Amino acid sequence: MIRKKVIAGNWKMNKTAADGVALTKDIVAEIGRETGVDVVVCPPFTALESVAHVLEGQAIKLGAQNMHPEKNGAYTGEVSAEMLRTLYVTHVILGHSERRAYFAETDAFINKKVLSALANQLKPILCVGETLAERESGTTLAVVQRQVEGGLQGVTPEQLTSVIIAYEPVWAIGTGKVATTEQAQEVHAYIRDLLTKLYGAALAQKVRILYGGSMKPSNAVELLAQKDIDGGLIGGAALEARSFVELVKAAGAAK
Ligand code: 13P
Repeated sequence: MIRKKVIAGNWKMNKTAADGVALTKDIVAEIGRETGVDVVVCPPFTALESVAHVLEGQAIKLGAQNMHPEKNGAYTGEVSAEMLRTLYVTHVILGHSERRAYFAETDAFINKKVLSALANQLKPILCVGETLAERESGTTLAVVQRQVEGGLQGVTPEQLTSVIIAYEPVWAIGTGKVATTEQAQEVHAYIRDLLTKLYGAALAQKVRILYGGSMKPSNAVELLAQKDIDGGLIGGAALEARSFVELVKAAGAAK
């Protein structure tokens, strides 16, 4: 099964709208017509509209970093799926470990967002991953299983192929400590086995599972060559056009 690779840039709380436009223009100049890889940029909410204008007519897709599950209402500071859709957003990162850790997001709440995103034709990038303490205590696979099963509750087989899963070991995020290819592949294969149990092999083979955590051009080639690693969710290296473009090219060259 050949799955199209995905390279998604999570800018986190970085870049003003003007900075985001400049970065996006540089990326578009290099890979605006790249169609061999699904490329997604995920700016902060405040830069979505300006970046959307730069992406008009380009193959690169626009993603948000979070959303609220409700359609509208008294949720000060929040943004709904419908609001994102009107800004030409197609993807949304959900359940990032920073939101789980700093904003106390639970699997149940993340699941509501996943269902709301899908109901509004947004593709969720569902993030899962263990902390260092969890890895050291040998509970990595159990934690990832709970997060995948919790996040996908009620997702229908028809909807599953719109979901992208990102495995991001928390200890590898922003630390420069990348998971070894064996560590990453083990968890990716485990997630695919789990999807096979939940949805059957044919669908499980179609789901893209990305790796995230200190991924950069120097380590990407080896990671992207693993059987179950279908791309990357990139933090730091997505903030500069040169490294992001290199990652896209590495994904394009990967088998
Ligand atoms: P870094 O690439 O900076 O480690 O961040 C990864 C990440 O959290 C992407 O969502």
